[in-house]
Amino acid sequence: MLRRHSTPLAMLFASTLVILLAPRIATAADAARGAALYESRCGSCHSESVHGRAKRVATDFDDVRRWVRRWNDNLTLRWGDEEIDDVTLYLNNTYYKYPCPPSVCKVVSLAPRVHPES
Ligand code: HEC
Repeated sequence: MLRRHSTPLAMLFASTLVILLAPRIATAADAARGAALYESRCGSCHSESVHGRAKRVATDFDDVRRWVRRWNDNLTLRWGDEEIDDVTLYLNNTYYKYPCPPSVCKVVSLAPRVHPES
């Protein structure tokens, strides 16, 4: 008898999870948008090899972000933190593959969090 109640409960749990996770997915950095930004603003100048070369200068995720920020300043693109994160995530996913800090890659963790978005 008890088992009959477990299905609606499970569904309620699942939909609650979806609702809880949705805003987090929306606020995580967007690599597709990063790709578009990069291609329109940066791709014309350096080829892929600058990111894939053996002696690349960016040595971790934050370093990649520093370079993106530096070029953003050099070219006075006026990108905000969101755009900088998007482009950094795109470059990291495509070339560098460094571990991504949770502040940028929130989607990766599906573990329930006790505190709401900080
Ligand atoms: C005027 C040409 C030019 C433009 C435009 C440009 N870059 Fe670069 N970029 C370079 C050069 C040259 C280097 C290599 C610097 C070095 O070796 O010290 C470089 C290096 C980098 C690196 C580090 C590569 C490594 O070795 O790990 C990153 C990341 C980067 N650029 C991102 C960007 C982004 C993001 C943009 C657009 C906002 C951009 N660049 C626009 C010329 C450019």
